[in-house]
Amino acid sequence: MIREFGWDDYPAVRDLWHVTARSALPEDELRATVDHGPGLLLVAEDRNAAVIGVVLGTFDGRRGWIHRLAVHPGHPGNGLATALVSELERRLIERGAPRINLLVMPDNAAGLTFWQRLGYLPCPDVLCSKPVC
Ligand SMILES: CC(C)(COP(=O)(O)OP(=O)(O)OC[C@H]1O[C@@H](n2cnc3c(N)ncnc32)[C@H](O)[C@@H]1OP(=O)(O)O)[C@@H](O)C(=O)NCCC(=O)NCCS
Repeated sequence: MIREFGWDDYPAVRDLWHVTARSALPEDELRATVDHGPGLLLVAEDRNAAVIGVVLGTFDGRRGWIHRLAVHPGHPGNGLATALVSELERRLIERGAPRINLLVMPDNAAGLTFWQRLGYLPCPDVLCSKPVC
């Protein structure tokens, strides 16, 4: 089942990010992100209501973004990631996003393959970043 995240889910989501080698957003950072864009943090749960998948979306008013997709390694290839992304896409489109972006780490070939299957293709843009505090 795909549903919206609730704060009781945070420990399970944090553990899921750790077990899938995603960096876990600290709770205060996640709260700020969710407060800014409610309804875009989704989880998948199994029959026992355990959280086994997560995806975070943001909408900056112009573009939708997908962050930190993770599915528990005990449930590979069951379509959970596809279902999470599909529901998040629906919500981002509903908010007016004409395009959805995401970043893939250069060493994550499997992740890139997954995204390409869903139509997310590499762009020539180069990410530039500057720490400001
Ligand atoms: C990548 C990940 C999200 C896939 O989750 P999943 O629930 O197993 O994915 P799905 O079952 O929805 O798979 C969708 C398609 O991608 C393919 N796929 C999934 N994982 C794959 C992998 N590791 N290598 C190659 N293809 C893969 C599936 O075979 C499937 O293709 P099909 O429809 O032709 O059968 C999951 O393995 C994961 O959490 N990995 C670690 C974190 C990560 O890499 N996150 C995303 C990248 S930023």
